Amino acid sequence: MLDPDGTARTTIFAEMSALAIATESINLGQGFPDYSGPAEVLEVAQREIAAGNNQYPPGRGLPVLRQGIADHQKRFYGLDVDPDREVLVTAGATEALAATILALVDEGDEVVTFEPFYDEYGACIAMARGIHKTVPLRRPDFQPDLDELRDTVTDRTRIILVNTPHNPTGAVFEPATLALIVELAERHDAIILTDEVYEHLLYDEVVHTPIATLPGARERTITVSSGGKTFNTTGWKIGWLTAPPELIDAIVAVKQFLTYVNGAPFQPAIAAGLALPDEFYASLARDLAAKRDVLVGGLREAGFTVSLPRAGYFVVADAAPLGYGDARQLCRDLPRLAGVVGIPISAFCFPETADQYASLVRFAFCKRLDVLEQASRQLADLRR
Ligand SMILES: Cc1ncc(COP(=O)(O)O)c(C=O)c1O
Repeated sequence: MLDPDGTARTTIFAEMSALAIATESINLGQGFPDYSGPAEVLEVAQREIAAGNNQYPPGRGLPVLRQGIADHQKRFYGLDVDPDREVLVTAGATEALAATILALVDEGDEVVTFEPFYDEYGACIAMARGIHKTVPLRRPDFQPDLDELRDTVTDRTRIILVNTPHNPTGAVFEPATLALIVELAERHDAIILTDEVYEHLLYDEVVHTPIATLPGARERTITVSSGGKTFNTTGWKIGWLTAPPELIDAIVAVKQFLTYVNGAPFQPAIAAGLALPDEFYASLARDLAAKRDVLVGGLREAGFTVSLPRAGYFVVADAAPLGYGDARQLCRDLPRLAGVVGIPISAFCFPETADQYASLVRFAFCKRLDVLEQASRQLADLRR
């Protein structure tokens, strides 16, 4: 995207990552792990490359991965998914979301998301020339108000885009919210697009309920996920969506001109990951919960007010008690003050609504424990 003077617009994410490098700060801005995924998964990719699986795979994804995704949906959620007609492998969840929005949204169609929202949503809705409506998520628990949700979904709504577990707030939507989303989608004949990339990163006994499991939801729901967050392979960009066959066909029509196909040797590796035993999934969540606790402790110690995330990679911290009403400014100062980089929550909002979130910062805790401990020690300097 270009600014009015014709220069390319950079995001706050790019600005903050550049600042982290320039100041040699600990980068808790971007959500990628600084450790590798399970050895079993990495080894499959290496073997596949050595064995020559290096050319274009089928457009919908290699059968072994499509079957692995279908098996995963059955194993964890009891969903029956046809691997040939109801699964599409994509370049990360990012392409799944982009291809879906470009395929299904026509100029003037409304897309409802929750706000703050993952920045790709706004960009893709704009690319499709859709109209972006939002329902706010407010502190302390970042759950939507059901009346506001009811008022926002109308007959003009083409898609209700849900993200639970939610980035950046770490909220997991309550069952009543999910049920209302399905009810409203049925009433207004809207499609549900649900971004569930953090489906396995849940803490404190919280349970993830895919919307597609709710009565009446399946036939109008597109479920998106990704191997990146579950197997610490964000750089492989292997994601997928599951949906009824006619929706998949429409999305494939767009996807074939975006990336055509996706990383052949990584697909059997992600399939191997999806088949890992339950203990792998339990330890993934346990480890991240421990990391969350270290960073939350450090942020509280430093003087931030913190909403405890129940899922995902991120914690939202309020800088107001530190005298910073403007988190953008704090994020620009933080590398110098404490050698740590975060992202202001306003980056996930419309400019008009950003004020409501002005003092909030997002920090990622998908980092090694020693890195989080070091970040906590450095943040403690803020009190001084
Ligand atoms: C909510 C959400 N959706 C989608 C993505 C993108 O996933 P992928 O890396 O698989 O494209 C991310 C990555 O941070 C995310 O947080």
